[in-house]
Amino acid sequence: MANETNNFAELISHCKEYGYIFQSSEIYDGLAAVYDYGQNGAQLKKNIRDYWWKSMTQMHDNIVGIDAAIFMHPTTWKASGHVDNFSDPMIDNKDSNKRYRVDHLIEGFAEEQLAIGNEQLSKDILVSMDELLAKDDYAGLKQLIEDNKIKCAISKTCNWTDVRQFNLMFSTEFGATASADDENSKVYLRPETAQGIFVNFLNVQKTGRMKIPFGIAQTGKAFRNEIVARQFIFRMREFEQMEMQFFIRPGTQMEWYNFWSAERKKWHESMGIPAEKLRFHDHVKLAHYADAAMDIEFEFPFGWKELEGIHSRTDFDLKQHQEYSKKKIQYFDNDIDAATNKPYGNYTPFVVETSVGLDRLFLTIISLAYAEEKWLKEDGTEDSRVVLKIPAKIAPTKLAILPLLKKDGLPEIAKELMDDCKSSFMCFYEEKDAIGKRYRRMDAIGTPFCVTIDHQTKEDNTVTIRYRDTMTQERIALSDVKKLIMEKIN
Ligand code: GAP
Repeated sequence: MANETNNFAELISHCKEYGYIFQSSEIYDGLAAVYDYGQNGAQLKKNIRDYWWKSMTQMHDNIVGIDAAIFMHPTTWKASGHVDNFSDPMIDNKDSNKRYRVDHLIEGFAEEQLAIGNEQLSKDILVSMDELLAKDDYAGLKQLIEDNKIKCAISKTCNWTDVRQFNLMFSTEFGATASADDENSKVYLRPETAQGIFVNFLNVQKTGRMKIPFGIAQTGKAFRNEIVARQFIFRMREFEQMEMQFFIRPGTQMEWYNFWSAERKKWHESMGIPAEKLRFHDHVKLAHYADAAMDIEFEFPFGWKELEGIHSRTDFDLKQHQEYSKKKIQYFDNDIDAATNKPYGNYTPFVVETSVGLDRLFLTIISLAYAEEKWLKEDGTEDSRVVLKIPAKIAPTKLAILPLLKKDGLPEIAKELMDDCKSSFMCFYEEKDAIGKRYRRMDAIGTPFCVTIDHQTKEDNTVTIRYRDTMTQERIALSDVKKLIMEKIN
């Protein structure tokens, strides 16, 4: 049995080395908390997105998908509350001028205390922080930082400013004649995709003849000027969300909130995430639009953190857009209410939202997949490999086709197999280097199946198939390769 280790720093450099993730504009020393996905990363990200999209839209006959623009009328963000409320409490160290998100500063301190065995202090400080955040008690938060002598990582001093709010939205100017100080031409880069769904509620409901309860799903970029952006692609300034707003009858929100939290956790498990690595965490401080909210947390290599948010958003957003746009946004429900024996009639629907970060899910998948393995060979010497055990159904490349030699007609057979398979799934063709080296490279990229064409293939039309996770090999008919891979990835 292989001996496995899992190391976050190694994972980050592996992602770069094998074309998964690069720092943005790296030749100019990068841009903080912005990343580019390479040839393998882009494909894995697309596969995860497609899996989500299919399970939301194709597998639910009452959910449809849209693709709204990133730019939205600036009033959208006034109505949604983001201009006034989308901010985080921040604190600056006066000696280093370094700015911290207050919750991150305190959480970092709690983690340090836990690491040195001060479990009770670690717990107590997090409980106090949650209580103070829930009350927006900024003076209390500063006091908590000072009482615990929490220091700046750079200056090592406790010389802090007061706690202040900092808006996280990026803005830019719209139109050729716009100038930076012209408030009328200011537009925001959307900080969540959800508002594109809310403003299209009536368009979709009417053109799709949707009946409540129904959902609108969307995937797309979102932008937040995160102050403390860290932990690789966990917290980025430009990231992608996969959100679904589920429109329901007022009063049924808790039933749907419970339904979607359980459903989403099950969905993550269907992606191969072990149940014991997922947990629910109820929000103490609710966002301005929510009457209940929870996170589905994953145990990342740096601790338990939010992977997905489930929010009961009430009728807040639709009502706000109705008020600011002065357009009636309501639904006529002609189902009969058993209590009154009359149709439910006109109302503003309530909303339960599921919102998962695509990049965060990518990080979840890849950190679970990454393994450094060592084992003893039969001759007593040690062997090792680095492998990405990405579930076959979402792996970027499904099959590597490897002729043993570059001659004797083997490449021709391999290319014929490639032509047969490539319209059905992603294949990779490679004829350079020794076969063992090529297998290791495919392990490192996460390709679940390799097929080797050798001289025996010419005699009996069989090939060797090698399985990434177990490294076992078997001989199968060349004509069965495509069918077998299709079975494994579906
Ligand atoms: N529409 C609701 C909403 O945006 P959120 O909890 O702020 O709620 C939802 O974000 C999800 O988006 C999070 O659970 C996380 O997966 C992802 N996310 C949020 N901020 C992120 C960031 N800076 N970088 C990467 N992913 C982020």
